[in-house]
Amino acid sequence: MMDFKDTELNQMAKTQPIVLGASTWGIRNTFHSIVAILITILIVASIYANQDGQQEEEMIRTSTNSDLSNSKCDLFSGKWVFDNKSYPLYNGQKCTFMSDQLACEKFGREDLSYQYWRWQPHRCDLPRFNATALLERLRNRRLVFVGDSLNRNQWVSMVCLVEKSIPPTLKSMNSIANGSLSIFKAIEYNATIEFYWAPLLVESNSDNPVNHRLPDRVVRVQAIEKHARYWTDADILVFNSYLWWKRHIDVLWGSFGSPDGIYKAVETLRVYEMALRTWSEWVEIHVNRTKTHLFFVSMSPTHKRADEWGAAYGDNCYKETEPITKEGYWGRGSDPRMMHLVEKVLDDLRTRDLNVQMLNITQLSEFRKEGHPSINRKQWEPLSEEQLSNPSSYADCIHWCLPGVPDVWNELLYAHIFHL
Ligand SMILES: *[C@@H]1O[C@H](CO)[C@@H](O)[C@H](O)[C@H]1NC(C)=O
Ligand SMILES: *[C@@H]1O[C@H](CO)[C@@H](O)[C@H](O)[C@H]1NC(C)=O
Ligand SMILES: *[C@@H]1O[C@H](CO)[C@@H](O)[C@H](O)[C@H]1NC(C)=O
Ligand SMILES: *[C@@H]1O[C@H](CO)[C@@H](O)[C@H](O)[C@H]1NC(C)=O
Ligand SMILES: *[C@@H]1O[C@H](CO)[C@@H](O)[C@H](O)[C@H]1NC(C)=O
Ligand SMILES: *[C@@H]1O[C@H](CO)[C@@H](O)[C@H](O)[C@H]1NC(C)=O
Repeated sequence: MMDFKDTELNQMAKTQPIVLGASTWGIRNTFHSIVAILITILIVASIYANQDGQQEEEMIRTSTNSDLSNSKCDLFSGKWVFDNKSYPLYNGQKCTFMSDQLACEKFGREDLSYQYWRWQPHRCDLPRFNATALLERLRNRRLVFVGDSLNRNQWVSMVCLVEKSIPPTLKSMNSIANGSLSIFKAIEYNATIEFYWAPLLVESNSDNPVNHRLPDRVVRVQAIEKHARYWTDADILVFNSYLWWKRHIDVLWGSFGSPDGIYKAVETLRVYEMALRTWSEWVEIHVNRTKTHLFFVSMSPTHKRADEWGAAYGDNCYKETEPITKEGYWGRGSDPRMMHLVEKVLDDLRTRDLNVQMLNITQLSEFRKEGHPSINRKQWEPLSEEQLSNPSSYADCIHWCLPGVPDVWNELLYAHIFHL
């Protein structure tokens, strides 16, 4: 089990204190070592664990993929269909590397219907996820997710999707670069599925994967090499970056800690575009086009304002049990202008002969107001009386329960890896 703290929650739970200072550092470092030790123990323990998980029956979904290459098929346009025969794709309680931030069933969620929804594109079917086939495809290769905790959510999903087909002795989990890079390895395949923490893609003062809860957000909008050196040579790269931009940001020209640095507040859209340009210039020049396949995951929607879907003002995703069915539902938290900026940057890269496929998960995830951890996840700070008396005040309506919505993001990624 892996644990992660997250700053994004600050935006939601305004009551959370911002803690800084020497003692906190000590705690965080201890926390960090504990995580490392736990992972080690788990890996060792899993060697002795019984192996019934591996033989778990593969779920059969009858579907033809023949029409997938049909350019008329838009995988991102479709509807959710209740399907408790072929879903969930794995048992969350048995996933060795599940995160307590996402393990909703473990943390007491009783309504499990969020695990049973299949994404049905309008004009074709998604191919069935085959972990063995993916591992074959990843043999001697690196699949690296780069971004924020939503991207990590997708990475944990991907690890859970494949790890059940690997015996305990033939898989491992490590982290390097001070915890910025987490590496799941399928040893027999010499394949890795990795996650690199860079919530703003470019350098920022939130780059510490554990201790990133800071009052002021500062980016070095022109600097990315510190991060990029860890992922440039990967075979498949999956980026995201959205939520962390949606608050006041200062841009730093110069280095962190340098007395000559120049700080300037820059408006969200503008600074987002600047960062995407820095990112795109890096990939254009440094990524090997014949080797590396690139993806950019569009923004993940939040469900913090229930009035947007016609429920009571002041409520949020807490206690929601069903997806939204209204065609084209779109919440105010998802800024189409920022999505268009990503599109524009990807279009420009295409003119320079570099194809980055957008995984357009925004619309399909908008419908899933019931898919968030809400109050069913590990709480990092003890809850106050006031919070306990009003559970929606600490509900996480940002991340996604696993098994759940990000499994479908990975099915979309899988479809692109194999068929497009
Ligand atoms: C994403 O998919 C939705 C649903 O098909 C569509 O309405 C939207 O235009 C797409 N956006 C982009 C940027 O491709
Ligand atoms: C699937 O859902 C249907 C309808 O809710 C229910 O009758 C059935 O028992 C469920 N099957 C499983 C395997 O959960
Ligand atoms: C999954 O993929 C493997 C390797 O390509 C193949 O041998 C196996 O038959 C596939 N399983 C299913 C259920 O299609
Ligand atoms: C294992 O995979 C890495 C890439 O992840 C590659 O560089 C290395 O050559 C592979 N090792 C073998 C023995 O093929
Ligand atoms: C890890 O952190 C230490 C102290 O913060 C720093 O000096 C070192 O450069 C970092 N190492 C890497 C690989 O980032
Ligand atoms: C790019 O990748 C291809 C395929 O792996 C390899 O043959 C080629 O040498 C690489 N080019 C450079 C400049 O590294």
